[in-house]
Amino acid sequence: MQFNLKQFLISISFVLDYIEIDILDDITNHSKRVAYIALKLGEMFNLTEKEQFSLLAFSIMHDIGGVENKKGVSKSELEKAKSHCVIGEKTINKFPLISEYENIILYHHENVDGSGFFNKKGNEIPLFSQIISLADFFELNYDGDPDRSVLVSQVSEQIDIRFSKRMINAFRQIIKQENFWLNLEDIFILDAVKEESGVCQESCRI
Ligand SMILES: [Fe+2]
Ligand SMILES: [Fe+2]
Repeated sequence: MQFNLKQFLISISFVLDYIEIDILDDITNHSKRVAYIALKLGEMFNLTEKEQFSLLAFSIMHDIGGVENKKGVSKSELEKAKSHCVIGEKTINKFPLISEYENIILYHHENVDGSGFFNKKGNEIPLFSQIISLADFFELNYDGDPDRSVLVSQVSEQIDIRFSKRMINAFRQIIKQENFWLNLEDIFILDAVKEESGVCQESCRI
């Protein structure tokens, strides 16, 4: 039987959405939106097809370590718990095809100035972790406001604090595309993730 890993990952994003209802009493589309933004950023780094697939997997599952959180915590409170990085890293290590990467989830809240949970700086932080970090920060501040200037400033002013110059440059490229903003909306985000991960045709025979 042919097993479609991409479809499997999209299914996981729905599972995470339902867990969010349990914890947050709300669906935020967080993992789908982070995955879409991460894949858009990944385009700016000329990733191979296999790397794009791995980035899709990591970005959809980046907060999987937070599923054990207590009911009633906010999304940003959940993100501030160091434990969700540690538990997430252990969980994702068991996932096939991405086992050659280390510490992507563990370091997804590191800042380039060394002020993150594990005090990793600059290039000590894996590229995928840096991409997911920016996508995550952007998503948590995204509210669909047609005036995008506040959100863009919130991200841009983190240059050399949370994010590297090259990551901010990549961000400035993707936000020039009108389609990028449209795809972030709740009604389009699922199709956008599917389309953006179109090159990730990873499948295996089981
Ligand atoms: Fe997180
Ligand atoms: Fe997150």
